[in-house]
Amino acid sequence: MKLLNLLALSVSALTVMGSGAMAQSGLEGMTIGFSQIGSESGWRAAETSVTRQQAEEWGVNLQFSDAQQRQENQIRAIRSFIAQDVDAILLAPVVATGWEEVLSEAKDAEIPVVLLDRGIEGPEDLYLTSVASDQVLEGRVAGEWLVDAVAGEDCRVVELQGTVGSSPAINRKQGFEEAIAGADNIEIVRSQTGDFTRAQGKQVMEGFLRAENGGADICALYAHNDDMAVGAIQAISEAGLTPGEDILVVSIDAVPDIFTAIAAGEANATVELTPNMAGPAFEALAAYLNDGVEPEKFIITESRLYTAEDDPEGEAERRRGLGY
Ligand code: AHR
Repeated sequence: MKLLNLLALSVSALTVMGSGAMAQSGLEGMTIGFSQIGSESGWRAAETSVTRQQAEEWGVNLQFSDAQQRQENQIRAIRSFIAQDVDAILLAPVVATGWEEVLSEAKDAEIPVVLLDRGIEGPEDLYLTSVASDQVLEGRVAGEWLVDAVAGEDCRVVELQGTVGSSPAINRKQGFEEAIAGADNIEIVRSQTGDFTRAQGKQVMEGFLRAENGGADICALYAHNDDMAVGAIQAISEAGLTPGEDILVVSIDAVPDIFTAIAAGEANATVELTPNMAGPAFEALAAYLNDGVEPEKFIITESRLYTAEDDPEGEAERRRGLGY
């Protein structure tokens, strides 16, 4: 991703919270297609729920399509949106590659596409803007937390990666590796995908524990999302170890369940990803469709670190009702 090289608009992660149902203007009566990846994580469920809520506030007729983790379903949905001649398309791309043909079709049909929460590889003129976090930064924030937390002690890390080929899996890995590059005491000893799901996070962690002396040789878990961390925490407990103490846990998303785990001392840190990608997307579309205003190419959301010192019970509570 070239996010850091570009001018970016920072969007507060908590913008959606407590905003109430405020009517927005500029998109009333417009039809917008939303190709969502699926519902692999609590974060994704919240993003879907917030997008529906935002559509209501903006008076948008939202055509929702759940791809059940399959790129071919997303491509089919986009073609169907083009055939319906929708006013715009929101796309949360499951993987980073393979979008050029279908997005060229949308471009030829003069339908603006906004990427939500994940990036793609390919020409930037295939989409109007991308609303997402700086995923390299997210990994870096998680890695820097670990460097500080272990304070020079030797630390063997296991890593649960997100969906293979997805931009967050690629970038969060890169950012974490960058953060620990200067720390000779920290080493990633095992790294495998858990596909961003709780079930696979648990299953893969069970394998890591078996392979690493029942977990005695693991100092920390880095998970590319909270759901995999929550599954892994269960595996660690079932192996007779204390998550958060015997094995440090750092992950990304800031879902209510990870705050509950942090409050219980079973997880140590998370990096927030706001589920409100649709709000900035609708704002950009309203300005573009009504006044021809080109938005920034990358609208970047905040990546804030939370630990036990940040009122985890309160943070869990504040996120209830957002669809996690
Ligand atoms: O693209 C964002 C990632 O996708 C979230 O971190 C994860 O929970 C989701 O599945």
